[in-house]
Amino acid sequence: MKVAVIGSGVMGSGIAEVFAIYKNEVLLYDKYEEAIKKGLTNIKWSLEKLSEKRRINETPESILTRIQIIRSLEEVKGSELVIEAVPEDFNLKVSIFKEVEKNVDYSTMIATNTSSLPITELSMALNKRERFLGLHFFNPPVLMGLVEVIKGNYTSSEVFEKGIEIVKSIKKEPIPVRKDVIGFVVNRILFRVFTSACKLVSEGKYTVQEVDSAAKYTLGFPMGIFELLDYTGIDTNYLISKEVKSRGFNFDCPLINDLYTKGYLGTKVKKGFYDWSAGRPIIQKTSREPSPSEILGDAIDEAVWLIKNNVSTEDEINKATKLGLGWPKGILEYAKEINYV
Ligand code: CAA
Repeated sequence: MKVAVIGSGVMGSGIAEVFAIYKNEVLLYDKYEEAIKKGLTNIKWSLEKLSEKRRINETPESILTRIQIIRSLEEVKGSELVIEAVPEDFNLKVSIFKEVEKNVDYSTMIATNTSSLPITELSMALNKRERFLGLHFFNPPVLMGLVEVIKGNYTSSEVFEKGIEIVKSIKKEPIPVRKDVIGFVVNRILFRVFTSACKLVSEGKYTVQEVDSAAKYTLGFPMGIFELLDYTGIDTNYLISKEVKSRGFNFDCPLINDLYTKGYLGTKVKKGFYDWSAGRPIIQKTSREPSPSEILGDAIDEAVWLIKNNVSTEDEINKATKLGLGWPKGILEYAKEINYV
């Protein structure tokens, strides 16, 4: 397939890498030369890592030949699928979709990797809205096994089914999101976890280290909750929280707003909740910790809401939280384990 990826940041470059690994011809666009350079450096580093670990059976150089940099949106012509992965700015995304639609065939599918904006609202930018869907990858796309496939009100069943097949073709697990709800499935749950963790710290009940100790050592998450906020980007989370709050979903964290104002944007500037200048922060086990239900209670309630509202099923939600977030158990498996009622 010929796939165009718009935006060469962490997500866009990761998505381009995944499609190239699975033998697709990839066009990668960014408006900023610096972002292209950084994106290509990330892809090369990641492919070298995968090669070292024998997780790819082709050389990085050979995979890279399938990624072509484009510097104009006119060059998306001929793509069968265009995936947008630019920052979470509604107007920016809309302007890109309008430009893309001018340059593609009638049959081209257009997808967004948005984490927080409604698919239906975004699709209104297009003349042919049934071609539009959400393909939501998780960071880092090359390692996380899940992609949410989201149906907007106008997405045709054919495009939705094709989205699911495309995700399978790149060896990821597709989770169908049947209703276009804010944050879809995984992020609705994750934003509750973030908000609960922030509240525990901002109200002075626990420290960042105590919350992350519980996340890593008691719940078995691959990263601490504040470590993950740094990893996914304080700026990204700030923009997401603003977008979802303006649409009535409460992802609220004064600690994020504060770091954002100071320019401590997480891993990318080597400072956020943690200091990343010497690499990944070391999270120690602390003697005092919040309980699992203090961290997960609101997220479990959210998972129940998703089931009651026919957005997803218990099995899908458990699978999605394991594959999308690397948790050893699904959110509703934790609920049973801790007898949360
Ligand atoms: N490509 C290739 N290799 C990579 C890589 C990448 N992009 N990123 C990390 N690695 C490598 C590391 O370099 C390391 O290699 P070495 O063993 O040679 O040092 C190896 O993978 C393992 O990494 P780590 O030792 O740092 O740590 P880990 O075992 O914890 O794995 C991880 C890293 C897969 C990222 C894991 O920590 C994890 O699953 N974290 C949770 C991530 C998560 O929750 N993602 C979803 C975020 S939410 C989101 O994305 C949605 C949104 O809309 C906001």
